[in-house]
Amino acid sequence: MRKTSGMLKGNYSIVALFSGDEESLYAFTSTSALVIGKGNGTYVVASDMTTISTYSSTYTRVDSNEVVKLSVNHGIQSFVDGVIIQKKYSIIDSMYKKSSFYTNKLLKNNVDFMISEIFEQPSIIDNILNKKKFDINISSILKSNSITIVACGSSYFASLIAREWFENISRVRVNVEISSEFRYRKNNFNRDDMLLFISQSGETVDTIEALNSINFLDNTLSIVNVRGSKITCYSKQSVYMDVGSEFSVAATKTFTAQLACLYRVVKLICDNKKQCDIGQNIGLSHKVSGMNGNIYDNIKGVIDNVIKYCTVHIPVISKFISQYDHLLYIGRGLGYGVALEGALKMKEVAYLHSEGIAIGELKHGTLALVDDKVIVVAIVPSDEFIHKNIINLHEIKARCGKVVVITDMCVYSKFQEFSNLDGFTFLKIPSIKGEFFPFSYSVVVQMLAYYVAKHRKIEVDRPRNLAKSITVE
Ligand code: G6P
Repeated sequence: MRKTSGMLKGNYSIVALFSGDEESLYAFTSTSALVIGKGNGTYVVASDMTTISTYSSTYTRVDSNEVVKLSVNHGIQSFVDGVIIQKKYSIIDSMYKKSSFYTNKLLKNNVDFMISEIFEQPSIIDNILNKKKFDINISSILKSNSITIVACGSSYFASLIAREWFENISRVRVNVEISSEFRYRKNNFNRDDMLLFISQSGETVDTIEALNSINFLDNTLSIVNVRGSKITCYSKQSVYMDVGSEFSVAATKTFTAQLACLYRVVKLICDNKKQCDIGQNIGLSHKVSGMNGNIYDNIKGVIDNVIKYCTVHIPVISKFISQYDHLLYIGRGLGYGVALEGALKMKEVAYLHSEGIAIGELKHGTLALVDDKVIVVAIVPSDEFIHKNIINLHEIKARCGKVVVITDMCVYSKFQEFSNLDGFTFLKIPSIKGEFFPFSYSVVVQMLAYYVAKHRKIEVDRPRNLAKSITVE
């Protein structure tokens, strides 16, 4: 076994069974993306925690210098250089147990995980924004000159949205980096620089390697969903979303949970700086805290109503969208990250070619693609960009592009006031306060992708070619 691992190159996790020794399994890894679960006479080997929780009560991680033997007679034995070592087992968080109970129930009732996870979001967002305890050492954030956020996929888009909050509200300079690019660059950080790593799984190898590439820094914070995941082992501080396992491959509830956690960090910075620019910088007028000291008292009610509205109206619009082969998602400011996430969801679950574009970038190239064969979905919330956005949407219409506008009643009335509505299709979702709109608009783009996928008869929870946690490069 040791000889074989010495000959292998790249990242791998291997579980082997030898003919003639069918009572033993051997496992080794180059990346530590291998966990062993133990419970009631059962041992389970898997690449992440979620999978083992149904069968185990405790777990341990396999290190990259280790070979593990699981056998009927000797239970579990771990070897380093041929010598048996003692391993510590940790208790599996009860969250995973609850999740597996819930999973079985959904499977029994034949409900898609994706839609049920979308429906969990009103409570999750409310809990993280208004109730969750946030025990982080804020002083390390306050002393840094800027924050660099590193992530992949949906987590990267959540970070782009959060950058707007950090910069506009707490006045902190923020860079957002894609993990797979960041890890190969020569980064010139110094000890006070703050780095934030965002990952729902906590196991994404590019983000882990990005974190390892700056391991000389003390100022690292990760925001993850999975307790005990690898990213939390390597970063100095961690915040857990604690939203239960997400079974659908496409991130939904973990995406809005990331947003809520990031907003909480922004709020903590504001509270500690005793300064908060909410309202002044992004054209809004409300205060940061609600009546009970909450960030947003009624956010659960608002997102619930958005879901109710979408459940009635999206099935029709999504049927229309599902007939197209090309889709452009457009947005500006906080809406840009939502547009990128909307486009990714369409690719992931509906296999519809879609691109997320900053509205202002359209005229720098992408407008050339617009004709009657392209559908454009625009994120147009009630923010300071309404008039600019309306003008840009008319530019698309003038090129025969079909436009679906995700907006609210207030913006819709402005549309009516200033322009001819012919050729636009509107989704007029319930209004939400100011800079919180990424929460409700994200739910809308998720539901749009879900229903387009259903019209196209795609198995939404297990899209082709994708995996939930990406433990390879
Ligand atoms: C995969 C998933 C995406 C996810 C990305 C990053 O590509 O399909 O939904 O956004 O990984 O994963 P992470 O666990 O680091 O957030």
